[in-house]
Amino acid sequence: MVLSLKNKLIVFATLFSFVVLLVNCSNNATNEEAKKADSTDCVKPLNPNGDSELALLMRNMMSSSKNLKEIIEQGNIPKEFPEAFKKIHTAKPTDSDTKKESFDAFASNYISNLQNLYNSPKEDLKKNYNAVVAACASCHSEHCPGPLKAINQLKISE
Ligand code: HEC
Repeated sequence: MVLSLKNKLIVFATLFSFVVLLVNCSNNATNEEAKKADSTDCVKPLNPNGDSELALLMRNMMSSSKNLKEIIEQGNIPKEFPEAFKKIHTAKPTDSDTKKESFDAFASNYISNLQNLYNSPKEDLKKNYNAVVAACASCHSEHCPGPLKAINQLKISE
């Protein structure tokens, strides 16, 4: 079969778009899976109103905890207490019924453990850091179990 140059181009273009399509699809599939693994039972992945104030605060708390973990594991002392995290009491959640009655008690427990960590003598840093992670986990086990696995991975082995 002898193809004219034009036909060759058409065949090539078709094959090429097919490959692009395939690559795209498999990318989408991994993105979907990543989303699934990340998804939480309390946080709706499709939120027409954007991410809630509380969800954004939580993401900051998550990355701050990862930083703290690194700082402490390297034998350094955490410096500035993140005042912004005190907003946990008032920050609006995705669904207004997410914050159940016990929320404020869990939130105060978290903040006081965090303050304790920032006032901690060096030899107690690991222990006090893990107490903060436990405070995250205890609220989450009641209010929002989705991120629990990720939260438990924040622990430092003592
Ligand atoms: C007092 C309860 C409470 C404490 C303490 C708490 N959380 Fe949350 N967390 C929530 C609630 C409720 C949500 C759901 C927010 C929403 O639906 O808007 C949430 C959401 C999250 C999310 C998902 C955010 C997203 O992407 O949508 C992560 C991650 C998270 N928390 C991590 C943490 C970490 C890490 C800590 C401790 C440093 C922590 N949380 C402490 C109640 C808490």
